[in-house]
Formats: sequence, structure tokens, C-alpha cells
Amino acid sequence: MFKIGNITIANKVVLAPMAGITSSGYRKFMSQFGPGLCVTEMVSDMGLIYGNKETKTYVEFEKLNIPTGVQLFGNSPENIAKSALICEKMNPNIDYYDINMACPVNKVTKTGAGSSLLKNPQLCGEIVKALKAATHKPVTAKIRIGFDSKHINFTEVIEELEKAGVDMIAIHPRTTKEMYGGLPHWELLKDLRSKMSVPLVVSGNIFTVEDAVKALEITGADAVMIARGGVGNPRLISNINKYFANEEIESPTINEQIDYCLELARDLIEEKGEEIAMRVYRGIATRFLDGLPNSKQIKSRLSTELVKYEDLVRILNEYKSQFDI
Ligand SMILES: Cc1cc2nc3c(=O)[nH]c(=O)nc-3n(C[C@H](O)[C@H](O)[C@H](O)COP(=O)(O)O)c2cc1C
Repeated sequence: MFKIGNITIANKVVLAPMAGITSSGYRKFMSQFGPGLCVTEMVSDMGLIYGNKETKTYVEFEKLNIPTGVQLFGNSPENIAKSALICEKMNPNIDYYDINMACPVNKVTKTGAGSSLLKNPQLCGEIVKALKAATHKPVTAKIRIGFDSKHINFTEVIEELEKAGVDMIAIHPRTTKEMYGGLPHWELLKDLRSKMSVPLVVSGNIFTVEDAVKALEITGADAVMIARGGVGNPRLISNINKYFANEEIESPTINEQIDYCLELARDLIEEKGEEIAMRVYRGIATRFLDGLPNSKQIKSRLSTELVKYEDLVRILNEYKSQFDI
């Protein structure tokens, strides 16, 4: 248990922001597995300021039983603060704001936003300060260890963020240049939490309960973030919580995985409508079958044939029919 501002986080698992995945339907589905905190995918400050219709949909969500933040990205303290004020008017269900200082994608970094901000630790602090002045809600930040291997400056960035009054920091121990490949540099984060004054969340290749335990042990962090490892494997979250509650960990059955796959599809359809949801789902549905026997052909069909919910039901039923379940 830890706190960001006045919000109590009940356990050691945070649901990561993932553009194109962590939509309100995804968060609703994942919430039943018990993350202690969740956040939207990144939302452009200028998109909100210009009133972009699609950008606004990221900020529209209903209250879950878990504190939920909006993650903003931009390159200027004034505009990020302005965009938070727009969010305040749009949605009373926002519990906190997170600032994206971690996105490595060129489209974002070339504008000076995302992990490009790490090049200027002082600016990182100024953004937090401006946001804190604009809202009474907690303000958190998500960073990487640095822009490239010659500029590993996360300790300096953390110092500036803490000075500015940040309420929690999440760190993904890869550089911008490393994108999402290779192994996270956990060795650089050894005992990091003991050097910090605010809660620390760590993110990077958390695919198993063991990965989570190890990352927490090395860093002393308050929580781990579940990103790619939770897509198609939602029980990773409840299993990490069970581990820390000294409860027995159970692997899901094939039937349960199929039921989860159908349930998330329904949540996404409710959120986005069938056509868009099923298009998005071609890249997600297959993940529920990862590691399951004889799933290769079915996975390739899911990634190409999904148009309607009934396609999903039919393909999964065909898969199921080969087992005695
Ligand atoms: C498809 C995708 C989209 C992502 N979008 C965001 C985002 O919008 N904001 C953010 O802070 N991080 C984003 N991330 C980074 C994740 O939150 C996480 O830190 C990263 O994937 C490392 O964790 P993992 O190795 O366990 O996946 C994204 C990652 C992926 C794979």
C-alpha cells in the first residue's frame, strides 16, 4: 500500500498506459483482476486545446473502482497545464494527472515531447510545477533512464521532479534509443527507492510473477507496471497480488482464457462499436492464445478474419472443439 497525494493505492500493481490498447474498455476489463492504479493512454495537450474529437474521447471515461489518471503529453508547461484544466471540465472522474516523459516514438519526440523532455531535466520540473499550480489533483511522471547510452540522466530528472513536487514517478529502465527492445537495465535502478522521497513504480518486461518480484526486490519500488505482459494474460495482475498476499497462484485454463478473450471483446465493442473494436482486436485477441496448444493456425485466422464479434465466437469455438472441454 502507498499513497500518491491523498489517493491510497491498495497494492503493488499499476496498469500501464499503452497507446492503442489501454482504452477505457481495456481498463474496465482489466480492473476485475485488481490493479491498484490505472491511467489512460497518452493524450496530446494540443489535441485537447484544439478540441480534437478523437483526443477528447481518451478523457471521457466512467468511474472505475480503481483510481484512474489521465496521461498528458506535450512540450510546454503552459500548454500541459491548460490541457489539464480542459480535462477537469470534461470529466469529474479523473483522480490524477501523469506526464509522459517516456514515449520514444519519433512522431512524439521530434516535437520535444515524450522522452525528448529527458534532455532538459529542468523543463521536466517546470512542467510538474505548472500542472501542480493548475490542479489540486496529484501529479505523477513517467520517465526512462535517459535519451541514449551517453545520456543516462534519470537521477537528475528525478531530482528536478521531486523538487517540483511530483507525487509519484514511474520509470522504464531503457533509453529512448532502445525503444522496447533488449533487456531493461535493472542494475542501474538498484535500491533507487531508498534514494527517493516519493513512491516509485517500475516498468519493463514484467511478464511473470517472478519478473515482478525481482524488479521490486532490486529497486525497492512500491509497485510494478503491467504493460505488454498483461495483454492476453490478465491473471498476471491477480497472481502478483496473490503472491504478496501469500495466496496460491493459479494458471488460467484454456476455457478461462477463451472467456476472457470474449469478455474483453465485448467491453471494446461497448466502447468503440463493433467495426473499430474488431479491427483493433485483431492485434489483441491472439495474445490470449499465447502458449496454448495447437493455437498457431487459429491465431493467424484471428489476426486476419475478425470483422464481427460472431467471427471471434466462431473461430474460438472451432479452436475449443479440438479439446475435450
Ligand atoms: C504499444 C505500446 C504503447 C505504449 N504507449 C504508452 C503510452 O501511451 N504512455 C506511456 O507512458 N508508455 C507507453 N508505453 C510503454 C509502457 O507503458 C511500458 O512502460 C513499456 O511497454 C515497458 O513495459 P513492458 O516491457 O512490460 O511492456 C507503450 C508501450 C507499448 C508496447
